[in-house]
Amino acid sequence: MKKLLTISLFVSFAMTMNAQPKLSANNIDEVLQAMTLEEKAKLLVGGANNFFGAGAVVGGEADLVAGAAGTSPAIPRLGIPATVLTDGPAGVRIDPTRKGTDKTYYATAFPIGSCLASTWNTELVGKVGEAIGNETKEYRCDVILGPGMNLHRNPLCGRNFEYYSEDPLLTGKIAAAYINGVQSQGAGVSAKHFAVNSQETDRTSVDERVSQRAARELYLRGFEIAVRESNPWTIMASYNKINGEFSMGNHDLLTKILRDDWGFKGIVMTDWIGIREGLPTIREVQAGNDLMEPGQPAQVQEIIDGVKNGSLDIADVDRNVRRMLEYIVKTPSFHQYPASNAPDFKAHAAITRQTAAEGIVLLKNNGTLPWKKGVIKTVALFGENSYDFLSGGTGSGCVHPPYVVDMLEGLQNVGISSSPTLTDIYRKYIEYAKVKFQAERHPAKWYQSEYFGQQKYPEIGISPIAVNNEVKHADAAIITIGRQAGEGVDRDIDTEFNLIPEERALITDVCNAFHAAGKPVIVIINSGSVIETASWSAYPDAILCAWQPGMEGGNSIADLLTGKVNPSGKLTMTWPISATDHASTKDFPGNIDFYTFKDMAANKRPIPGHAYTNHEEDIYVGYRYFDTFQKNVAYPFGFGLSYTTFSFAKPVVKAKGKDAVEVCVTVKNTGSITGKEVAQVYVQAPKGKLAKPTQELKAFAKTRELKPGESQVLTMVIPVRDLASFDEAGSQWLTEAGTYTFRIGNSSRDITATATLKLSEYTEKTTNALAPQQSLNLLKQ
Ligand code: BGC
Repeated sequence: MKKLLTISLFVSFAMTMNAQPKLSANNIDEVLQAMTLEEKAKLLVGGANNFFGAGAVVGGEADLVAGAAGTSPAIPRLGIPATVLTDGPAGVRIDPTRKGTDKTYYATAFPIGSCLASTWNTELVGKVGEAIGNETKEYRCDVILGPGMNLHRNPLCGRNFEYYSEDPLLTGKIAAAYINGVQSQGAGVSAKHFAVNSQETDRTSVDERVSQRAARELYLRGFEIAVRESNPWTIMASYNKINGEFSMGNHDLLTKILRDDWGFKGIVMTDWIGIREGLPTIREVQAGNDLMEPGQPAQVQEIIDGVKNGSLDIADVDRNVRRMLEYIVKTPSFHQYPASNAPDFKAHAAITRQTAAEGIVLLKNNGTLPWKKGVIKTVALFGENSYDFLSGGTGSGCVHPPYVVDMLEGLQNVGISSSPTLTDIYRKYIEYAKVKFQAERHPAKWYQSEYFGQQKYPEIGISPIAVNNEVKHADAAIITIGRQAGEGVDRDIDTEFNLIPEERALITDVCNAFHAAGKPVIVIINSGSVIETASWSAYPDAILCAWQPGMEGGNSIADLLTGKVNPSGKLTMTWPISATDHASTKDFPGNIDFYTFKDMAANKRPIPGHAYTNHEEDIYVGYRYFDTFQKNVAYPFGFGLSYTTFSFAKPVVKAKGKDAVEVCVTVKNTGSITGKEVAQVYVQAPKGKLAKPTQELKAFAKTRELKPGESQVLTMVIPVRDLASFDEAGSQWLTEAGTYTFRIGNSSRDITATATLKLSEYTEKTTNALAPQQSLNLLKQ
């Protein structure tokens, strides 16, 4: 009898167990129904990799992939696996070594965002996306925390290197290409940081006060394009506030704009402080924030209590949980993808080498480049970063690559040798500097680590005598000027934007000595961001802005120096004459707290709500300001030289259907070397109700490789909606009626072909969202 009872109890227990649904793409509602309130709350609160010390965060999954940034929780009872989120964006950032094994977990370091965008080549960026998606999956991760899509509002922002451009169209198109590439591999992205995260100073507390128009036309526009054209799995809400409300709890931003206006279908996660002082978790849930990263146990409880005491509607929780389940069923973890932990470095190295070579921008060339075979046999290599080459930035944007090809190796690989004396001096200095600056790290500069801020050691002076000595042994000189930056810190003018005295002396001494012997000098800028060039650009014979071009950097640069690749990169931001020339200067970084790095070191915290940045320049960011107000610049937006020349024929511009314009232009290689060119279409609107910048980039396309004398017709389609301005009074996009001029050239200041077209009015209603709480003193034309 007893035995029978046991058997029947076991059978009924097994039946109950069987009745529990296991998650699949077809039973999301059923699983939602089966979840307890505790399980629902838990699913909305993610974990992290001991980010704030063991135990501080939710989730026992934190160690699934060592060094990954975070996880979403597993609920094994319902077949819900943990998913793994990894930085991003220039490659997979995980720990390269792990305890208890000799195996390594290096990842390909691809070119940083500014370099990728400078290719103006969406197809190539798509290939980089595919390779990153593949490495994400092969390292057992589900989502790469990128692309970084904030606008270059000011050249001093510490994270500009991770971002694409001062222009939202270019940002959106490059991001969409990256996202489509990653997601084609069955891995996801988290487009970040949504939104208006244009500075690092006080980034977790600053209130970015911005007009609805500038928000819609500039700061949100890139994200809008990416959402509409690539359907990102996830979006990361930024740390800052926008017009008084944290992005992470901002219903206008995360629901009205992102979902109601744009139709976003994925999940929103927080940037990496899931719990915020002054922002109840239930407000984040209500706003449409689906995953707190990294979350804390208190947040799970807050959600449970909120539902129980009626302050949080279970419908809001269910909506977010459903979105989480819809995300989870797409992931490699859900599909139990057999991660190899062995990506194809060889194939990916070829992609990064080619992409960097297309993203590097030739800023000056007096004819010295390309080097003809055998003419330059030995180079004198100056500058510490020739030997300690910066493949990428720091902070969460850094990647641990298996190797970095520096300038020395890059030149060696094409049969060019360099001065052993200089190699010896610089290598010894770097060895010494690493120990010295590590040991002497000022307490207020604790951020000088891989994680936050700068890592570059001060450049050493090389005496004019030593420089002179090199002239007789070398056919040319290269000077690498490096700059490092990363999250948490903006760049300073004196030592990061401007050259320091040792660098100035190096440029003048090397140019004087080598030019006296009739030998050329090339400057390589190895920086993630814009630097000052106007005061010294007259001295060298050529200047290449190599950015931080990934782990194959030295090879990519050598490909350009030797003419194996003809430069076709174009700047995606204006290079000002002085750091303070941008209209945003007045408000960058804004009215910040007393909060300095000394305060940080002393564990002081900013006063919440105290810091703010007024965007008084409004829509006049980057070339929109410089071109409209006719200010001189060092290098204009879109600028970049080639070893050949191109012409643009008169474009044919005509209506395409009811709501689009078609622009056709023939590009011809008029020089003597094979190369690629970018056609940039700037549109000038007729004078109307709303003031506009003098011109705005509305389309672009890159040719294939054109041989001398060869032409290609490029066809670009511009939706009439893309010509609109945001009309705050009517909460609508408005393309005013009148004659539009389509101006085509290869920089915003070099327009060589134009055509006009009459358009009638177009409007499109939006929600009324993100109204500023304070009135702003906006810049007017
Ligand atoms: C950064 C994000 C990053 C996250 C996880 C944050 O501090 O702002 O860009 O993805 O950390 O590492």
